Amino acid sequence: MIQETHKDVTVQLFSKIKSVGLFGIDSYMVEIEADVSGGLPVFDIVGLPDTAVKESRDRVRAAVKNCGFSFPTGRITVNLAPADKKKEGALYDLPILLAILKASKQITVPVSDGVFIGELSLDGNIRPINGILAMTIAAKQNGIESIYVPKENASEAAVIDGISVYGVKNVKELILHLSGEQKLEKAVFVKPEKQTAAVLPDFSDVKGQLAAKKALEVAAAGGHNILMIGPPGAGKSMLAKRIPTILPEMTFEESIETTKIHSIAGILSKEDPLVTVRPFRSPHHSVSAVGLTGGGTIPKPGEISLAHNGVLFLDELPEFKRDAMEALRQPIEDGVITVSRASGSATYPSSVMLVSAMNPCPCGNYGHPTKQCTCTPNMVLKYLNRISGPMLDRIDLHIEVPPVDYNAISNNSREETSAEIRERVNKARRIQIERYKGTGITCNARLTPKMLREFCVLTEDASVYLNRCFDELGMSARAYDRILKVSRTIADLDQSEMIEKRHVLSAIRFRTLDRKYWAK
Ligand SMILES: Nc1ncnc2c1ncn2[C@@H]1O[C@H](COP(=O)(O)OP(=O)(O)O)[C@@H](O)[C@H]1O
Ligand SMILES: [Mg+2]
Repeated sequence: MIQETHKDVTVQLFSKIKSVGLFGIDSYMVEIEADVSGGLPVFDIVGLPDTAVKESRDRVRAAVKNCGFSFPTGRITVNLAPADKKKEGALYDLPILLAILKASKQITVPVSDGVFIGELSLDGNIRPINGILAMTIAAKQNGIESIYVPKENASEAAVIDGISVYGVKNVKELILHLSGEQKLEKAVFVKPEKQTAAVLPDFSDVKGQLAAKKALEVAAAGGHNILMIGPPGAGKSMLAKRIPTILPEMTFEESIETTKIHSIAGILSKEDPLVTVRPFRSPHHSVSAVGLTGGGTIPKPGEISLAHNGVLFLDELPEFKRDAMEALRQPIEDGVITVSRASGSATYPSSVMLVSAMNPCPCGNYGHPTKQCTCTPNMVLKYLNRISGPMLDRIDLHIEVPPVDYNAISNNSREETSAEIRERVNKARRIQIERYKGTGITCNARLTPKMLREFCVLTEDASVYLNRCFDELGMSARAYDRILKVSRTIADLDQSEMIEKRHVLSAIRFRTLDRKYWAK
């Protein structure tokens, strides 16, 4: 707690108000000090980036007047500490205004136990801001008892318990509350209703495609990245969209992590202050590297971080810019991305399941059972080579999605629901969580080469078979490891501790595509 050495009885016109700042997803305490002294009228704000200062100064000055107070004459200096951290301007409007009113003795209300956040409009109304969840967590960790946030952000802040949250509409309301004349109600967290199956698309909508569905189940069960290849209209996008419905439910910690990022990016919906459904992000192929990984002068999370704990779907993979694709390699591997800028480096989590889809060639019909492909072999090769080897190397499963025949779509046979598939996924995940306790990983996709030897034990039969394939198919060592991992997941779905020949066999089937299309 910060000591208030400047009791109102002292002659020095000085005040301190607490607030919080945000950089990346890290939040930290900020102190706003205001000093009013005699002399020529000057209003200085230090500790903010230049551009933000002017705007904040103008808003605060107008709001002070329009709330029925007078803007103090004389020299006003406002300092935002610590000065070495770059701060976004708008959210400090409210604490700056309070500091000035307090320093100029226009209000005497107690403010020391609270943190104040909010952008002001010229008439003294308080506007919503981004990143409230992370800020509330920081305030609580610093022992703050109450946090005053824009009304629209209150439900989001209230997700965190152990700190009193007040949603404030305007300056007047806040001062009446602080003076005890008219108390505001504490915001309470309303648990969002579980999104019903009716709202989310379901796997039972997809007719047939049993092999593709099985592959997606394996991918979901082990957290594996997957690439789907097939002609236009085969249902690749349709399948991808349904993956979040078979992934294990989010834990509360995962929900908080993902919500923090969505809050900072300003994409959180007011109705759902807590993200409880795994995100599905599907950026267009024209997206830039920065758009995917995050960054900018004041760093913002990219698509891969918005997809954290969920699915990043790259549809039409070969159409993505080469540098954008390459920029994804490291965060996909590590599960975090650090963006460096002049203002410092920010780290965002980026643990995603990468799902991608593509046509096999520019016209889309290469390998089609009935349609004729109009591309030359060279065109096909060039198209496929847009995906670099290292990128392909990070994808555990490659599957072919053949076009469905009309009969399959039009028949009324019952298809398995997402809930049914998810139950098997959950079972397999629980086995993995138990097995990897204390190792820092929770699913097979994250196995390191060293761990592979310990945890992927093959039966004699399976081992002989895999080694034979390795020789005959001319597999790379990386491909070998990948097959082991996927075999591990298939065995887990089968509740089998040992990896048997049949598990290896299915795993190899999920790898035939790179040989078929990328044959050297
Ligand atoms: N197996 C299927 N069952 C039901 N509808 C399908 C199936 N496959 C394709 N469709 C229909 O075809 C449309 C196009 O599929 P889409 O997922 O966009 O194909 P792709 O991404 O492979 O080009 C879907 O929106 C859906 O209406
Ligand atoms: Mg598509």
